[in-house]
Amino acid sequence: MTDSEPTPFAGRTALVTGSSRGLGAATAKLLARQGADVVVTYRKRDDAAREVAAEIEAAGRRVWVHRCDLGELDDIEALMNAIEDPATGPGSLDIVVANAAATSFRPLMEAEPRHLEKTFAISVGGFLRLVQRSVPMLEASGHGRIVAVSGADTVTWIPAHGILAAAKAAMESMVAYLGVELGERGLTVVGVNPGWIDGDSLKLMLGPFYAHLSEMETRTHPMRQTMTPDDVAQAVALLCTDAARLMNGSIVRADGAGVFSFCGRNINLGVEAALAALPADADRTALAGAAPSVTTDRLSPPTA
Ligand SMILES: NC(=O)c1ccc[n+]([C@@H]2O[C@H](COP(=O)([O-])OP(=O)(O)OC[C@H]3O[C@@H](n4cnc5c(N)ncnc54)[C@H](OP(=O)(O)O)[C@@H]3O)[C@@H](O)[C@H]2O)c1
Repeated sequence: MTDSEPTPFAGRTALVTGSSRGLGAATAKLLARQGADVVVTYRKRDDAAREVAAEIEAAGRRVWVHRCDLGELDDIEALMNAIEDPATGPGSLDIVVANAAATSFRPLMEAEPRHLEKTFAISVGGFLRLVQRSVPMLEASGHGRIVAVSGADTVTWIPAHGILAAAKAAMESMVAYLGVELGERGLTVVGVNPGWIDGDSLKLMLGPFYAHLSEMETRTHPMRQTMTPDDVAQAVALLCTDAARLMNGSIVRADGAGVFSFCGRNINLGVEAALAALPADADRTALAGAAPSVTTDRLSPPTA
């Protein structure tokens, strides 16, 4: 922690689900650096969760680590009981970041009921139960905040993401409804929709193509970068501040226009490939300039 780092969450306690790795870990550590005590949860990787907890303690905050499979209602009950009890948890909550997710990546035509059940149990049923159990503590806090992490698959087609997209779309819908139901009780409920986040799940999803696609994302993204968990955690933390109160019921994109620009990026990549396939002496600039929808300034120079 730097001396100059603002601490808008001083005296507050945050629960971040799935905070042993990826975006959850980055969010838990950032909220701690900005003043919050944190409840860290994991499903399998207790070693990773304990590393995150050690960093939070090093920042001078209190931390509690609990195993919780968000797809198991009994686990959620046990987690919330432990949080409510000052002997095993903080005894109060101000912020809940519903980050944990897991799915089976496959086309919808290959989806079996068990794949849907597991994914929906985490992001729909588990999310709602987590909210229901958190609300009394969040209400008592006076500035209760729920941030639900969605995903770009709700707004654009991503191969093999149909099951997760459907569950996250349901979660987004619940964010809007909960914003209305809980607004009058002083709570703010908001969804955040990241695009690409570097990390384990993308490496798993893209396998041997990860490095190539990461390079393409960096080259074509409007901000010329891939988003890291730390980048997206900044947006999540912003939504946890009091200043984000009027975002209640909204889904906020946190992708640097990466998803919105996707169609145009594909056009430019297609043009780039077509130009690269031309003979070496072809007039590439004139050819690209003849297409009104092609922005040659956004094209990388042809590779030698
Ligand atoms: N990665 C992306 O590009 C991307 C893009 C948009 C949105 N998102 C969303 O951002 C969130 C975080 O993604 P990420 O890529 O950072 O995830 P990640 O690196 O795969 O980490 C997942 C975290 O969730 C935990 N977890 C997994 N299954 C769980 C379950 N059934 N119950 C409770 N916890 C569980 C994991 O615990 P263990 O360590 O114990 O396994 C881990 O802490 C997710 O909601 C995801 O849908 C991701």
